[in-house]
Amino acid sequence: MYASIVFAPLGLLLCTVVHATVNVNVGMLHLSSFEKEPLVSKYYLLPAAQIAFETVAKRLERGVYKNFSMTHVSTNECCTRPVRSTGALASSMYHDDGVDAFLGPAVSPDMAAVADMAAYWNLPVLAGAATSTLLDNKTRFPTLTRTGPCVELMVQFMTAVLRHLGLTSCAILRGLPIDIVYYRYVLPDAVFAGLERNGITVVEVYADQFDTLDKALEKVASVSKVIFISTSPVRDIMVRAHHLGLTRGSHVFLNWIPFEYSPWQTSSQFENNDAETVEALKALLMMRYHVPDIPVYHAFQSELKDRQLSLYGREGSGENLYAAATHDAVLIYADVINEIVAEGGDVRDGRAVTKKMWDRTFQGVTGQIRIGANGDRLEVCELLDMTDTNKGTFDVIGTFDEATGAIKVHEPIKWPGGKAPTGY
Ligand SMILES: *[C@@H]1O[C@H](CO)[C@@H](O)[C@H](O)[C@H]1NC(C)=O
Ligand SMILES: *[C@@H]1O[C@H](CO)[C@@H](O)[C@H](O)[C@H]1NC(C)=O
Repeated sequence: MYASIVFAPLGLLLCTVVHATVNVNVGMLHLSSFEKEPLVSKYYLLPAAQIAFETVAKRLERGVYKNFSMTHVSTNECCTRPVRSTGALASSMYHDDGVDAFLGPAVSPDMAAVADMAAYWNLPVLAGAATSTLLDNKTRFPTLTRTGPCVELMVQFMTAVLRHLGLTSCAILRGLPIDIVYYRYVLPDAVFAGLERNGITVVEVYADQFDTLDKALEKVASVSKVIFISTSPVRDIMVRAHHLGLTRGSHVFLNWIPFEYSPWQTSSQFENNDAETVEALKALLMMRYHVPDIPVYHAFQSELKDRQLSLYGREGSGENLYAAATHDAVLIYADVINEIVAEGGDVRDGRAVTKKMWDRTFQGVTGQIRIGANGDRLEVCELLDMTDTNKGTFDVIGTFDEATGAIKVHEPIKWPGGKAPTGY
């Protein structure tokens, strides 16, 4: 021990003596299965977090941040076993690694286990994914801060769209053949519960309980003028609906595509279509999150791809908002730790750390990050209609800002038949 002090570089020794440096250790819980939940797997979120940790290190080096250091530990074993195993993983990070905060898990039920335990330990939890409504209750999860696009926002947006159109009911067409938990359960469950809570009459129709898609479409069309289709792509379903005569102005179809993702054919389903398909798609209004279109966001996404290639030998599909939100979760945590250290506060007081993140704005690769008073990020959504009825392409005609709850539609909807569907 004596020897190690003697041979330590002089600078390091002085530094340790003069300034107290606090270390914060972030525990990350990642999902390694690419197949199960590709967009929120470690193949995106781990390199995204790494890029953020490197930015934090550079800021410390340059003196933008002072007097703390940030380390991280991570596990890839999360979210593939029963939910309580994730609690066990978090527990060993707490006891063995002494973590000061958690990042992840990206899967909401597993996150609930970690966030319950973190509330008990009074440690902050950060999430760029884990966006389901299960985690909305911040009385239960008082130390959870989410920077990703939450599902509840989509429900508020859809309610605003229906109210704007003067429509009071909605049918959900679900149970369609898509092997993505988000479209099969998370989204339709949240839409059903949320619309009902907001006073909209809502009925669910499970397509897999009918012999043919046509029969399911006839059923769903008989219960409401408004049909929300919980899958992607929707093009072929719209063509079936067209053959059944449901796209000539009697009904309006809605779908939700959170972002560009090639297996969902997010944009490509609206490109290069024949005349009949274009006709069919005229009855569709599309909804999505506003995705940042700023140089720093695209630069991050290309850095992420480079890193995926070098780490895993393949790059992901399209740009990934969850990854960017995970990156930014690390940055806002670092901003707040920097302030707490300067104020002489306790970086392990999870409620105090969390309180500093809520109800304020930060900057990240996703642009301005507005964290609401309940610790979830406030976002903007977009409504798209077919604006070029010759080519059949869709463009943004309205926006919804969660901060104000206001929807602004700046271009009239081009209804097939010239007017909005009326009646139930
Ligand atoms: C933080 O570091 C600066 C020098 O980088 C020093 O002047 C200051 O006293 C330190 N503050 C604390 C709280 O250690
Ligand atoms: C929120 O969580 C608290 C604490 O667990 C619970 O008492 C309350 O009923 C929950 N509220 C809702 C709306 O679920």
